[in-house]
Amino acid sequence: EIASLLSLCGGQFSGEQEIRVNSPFWILNIPSEEMARGLMKRTVCAKSIFELWGHGRSAGELYASLKNYPTDKMLPYLHSDSTYKVHIHTFNKTLTQAQKIKKIDALEFLPFKGKVNLKNPEHIFWILEDYGMNPNDVPEEPIHLYFGRWIADGQRELIESYSVKKRHFIGNTSMDACLSFIMANHGRVKPNDIVYDPFVGTGGLLISSAHFGAYVCGTDIDYNTIHGLGKASRKNQKWRGPDENIRANLRQYGLEKYYLDALVADSSRPIWRKGMLFDAIITD
Ligand SMILES: C[S@@+](CC[C@H](N)C(=O)[O-])C[C@H]1O[C@@H](n2cnc3c(N)ncnc32)[C@H](O)[C@@H]1O
Repeated sequence: EIASLLSLCGGQFSGEQEIRVNSPFWILNIPSEEMARGLMKRTVCAKSIFELWGHGRSAGELYASLKNYPTDKMLPYLHSDSTYKVHIHTFNKTLTQAQKIKKIDALEFLPFKGKVNLKNPEHIFWILEDYGMNPNDVPEEPIHLYFGRWIADGQRELIESYSVKKRHFIGNTSMDACLSFIMANHGRVKPNDIVYDPFVGTGGLLISSAHFGAYVCGTDIDYNTIHGLGKASRKNQKWRGPDENIRANLRQYGLEKYYLDALVADSSRPIWRKGMLFDAIITD
């Protein structure tokens, strides 16, 4: 997802990028903050992105690394007119408030000149601690520590707001919201694109593309699905209601204007004229 989004934002994913499979933290080289923000406006996989000021396998290594970070890169965010706060996030371990404060206080060697503002700070800094992936074997000390300036959060809330559980029209194979967004990101869908799903079903994959501003259409061999007829997939409902269809789903999310059409067709047979018709074909 990140590789696709970087190229959508005009960047490039370097094959040399280290991928740490056993950690939720990932150090990426991104050419600009603007590109990082663009990436986070789309990703449902990444939670947050930070400008990394230092990291290490122990607190000592982190502090040494921070002391090596160029002061001129820090100062614009630490000057006396600015406000800030420092947060701490621990993965696979819960710290007491006292432990957290101790770790934050240990960073006093950084040239913070601004005022602490817990409610509405201009700059937010994070200590991130990685205690590994095994909840049954949590080390006393973190295996890796990071410190950085928060830049942006990703779009993980979309997973909840587009959850299939609350969707008007669903079927047995409706695509999960998170996967649907990942697929639209893989497809590098952008505003005003035309996206087609040849096995559209209840249109789960069209919704994420429409959310990103693409016009969407699809085909399915099943007349009932396209017309929102037949047996309901919901537990306490026997038959589908009168307005259970893809258009109504898009309407539910305020995306109806992106609906082109859904047709009954057998995708094993060619129905489209030759030539470029779609910017992306996204299907399952
Ligand atoms: C996995 S489901 C797609 C689910 C869809 N992504 C959704 O969110 O509801 C696959 C769909 O392909 C349709 N299908 C199967 N064979 C087909 C064919 N030859 N042409 C068009 N659609 C077909 C099925 O009716 C089914 O709705």
